[in-house]
Amino acid sequence: MTQDELKQAVATAALDYIRPYLEDNTVLGIGTGSTANLFIDNLAELRGQVNATVASSDASAERLRQHGIPVYELSTVNQVDFYIDGADEANDSLQLIKGGGAALTREKIVAAVARTFICIADESKLVHTLGEFPLPVEVIPMARSYVARELVKLGGDPVYREGVVTDNGNVILDVHNFSIPQPLAMEAKINNIAGVVSNGLFALRPADVLLLGTAEGVKTLRLA
Ligand code: 5RP
Repeated sequence: MTQDELKQAVATAALDYIRPYLEDNTVLGIGTGSTANLFIDNLAELRGQVNATVASSDASAERLRQHGIPVYELSTVNQVDFYIDGADEANDSLQLIKGGGAALTREKIVAAVARTFICIADESKLVHTLGEFPLPVEVIPMARSYVARELVKLGGDPVYREGVVTDNGNVILDVHNFSIPQPLAMEAKINNIAGVVSNGLFALRPADVLLLGTAEGVKTLRLA
């Protein structure tokens, strides 16, 4: 199976996962990226049964609206029942690296609010130690050089993502050559650098469920 077929398989599996729980007042959090886009396109099937979504990016909000699916501001809803989103890397503790699409801060906020975070990914994303994928860090523009120097002190090689401005008006540094054996500690450490808005480690709030697309079918991994 191709990577795109595996992404489609997990997008379909996510729809099947949430379908039995859909009620009039269910609120779905919707992520960002190519896998999340496939989920959004699948969700169009349930148009009319999905009364409220919140999106982790302007792009996803726009795609949902194009399908006629209602999108609300996060601040106006009381709860988010499920958050469905992709990842750039996942380990077997369901800790993630996210932010390849520069939406990490809003993704982190929606994931924090969500009761259940369902991560959808193809098997190429499963790693033993996080950090082969460069870790995205969202930074207030004036702090860019300072934060980059601090990230070098932590052992990484930060690279400015040219031409990218986040939905929040900030810039992204991608930290290369940065193996992360202790994601919880590293997430907190990077968050403590002045000028960092958030970083792409999802360890303090990992996924609850990982739907992993493999050649043998979709595997469901849950937090123990
Ligand atoms: C966007 C993200 C995405 O979830 C991540 O980049 C995975 O993307 P894709 O589904 O296209 O592989 O974190 O900020």
